[in-house]
Amino acid sequence: MPASIPRHVAIIMDGNGRWAKQRGKIRTEGHLEGAKSITRMLEAAGNAGVEYITVYAFSTENWKRPPAEVSFLMNLIPKFCKDKLPELMKNGIRLRVIGRIDGLPKAAQEALKNACEKSAANNKLTFTIALNYGGRAEIIDAVNTILADKNRPADQKVTEEEFRNYLYAPDIPDPDLLIRTGGEKRISNFLLWELSYAELYVTDVLWPDFDEAEFQKALAAFGSRQRRFGEVKP
Ligand code: FPP
Repeated sequence: MPASIPRHVAIIMDGNGRWAKQRGKIRTEGHLEGAKSITRMLEAAGNAGVEYITVYAFSTENWKRPPAEVSFLMNLIPKFCKDKLPELMKNGIRLRVIGRIDGLPKAAQEALKNACEKSAANNKLTFTIALNYGGRAEIIDAVNTILADKNRPADQKVTEEEFRNYLYAPDIPDPDLLIRTGGEKRISNFLLWELSYAELYVTDVLWPDFDEAEFQKALAAFGSRQRRFGEVKP
């Protein structure tokens, strides 16, 4: 058991396409398998006592993918919500979403709204899906909401504490650990503000192969890190 458990784990679920290619399958088969991996990971997170999980499922840049892949992922959202809801309810998992949700197809928006509402009182684990999400977009959206906020004096300087309140999910604590599967060593426009002090863990394991044992390895790596938050510690 690792010494300290991250309260919030963020995940860049990369490698679905490569997983499919290695098996002579089409890329979308990898996304289907990736959706199964989410179930396994939520169970592992719940068992470990992690309170928040945030996954990057579709970025503001992912619209540039081939149209068939984009529409597959968009159609997968309502199916994912419907299929996962019983399991969310059984395991006390609350679903939330972040991103420019109004840019998603209507069926996806409605299914997400329904699953978020139905699971709103669950309090064991909060599972947030980032959809049509970009870290820069989130910051720009926050800036524009501040500019449009008639209740704050226009000449009042913005502090970090105030700015945070304008992010998509201000009540969710910043991630302590970022896991990226698929081996690439970059943040890819994910949670740019929130990841400031997160520990980074990159594994070559492809997302569909990421299981409880791999999750435990990431937790063990986190447990061995010394977090200094810019201070000097003995
Ligand atoms: C990145 O792997 C993965 C994605 C952009 C999509 C992630 C989607 C899922 C895990 C399925 C669940 C989805 C929803 C919508 C609920 P990649 O395709 O870039 O992999 P590659 O780098 O090997 O090509």
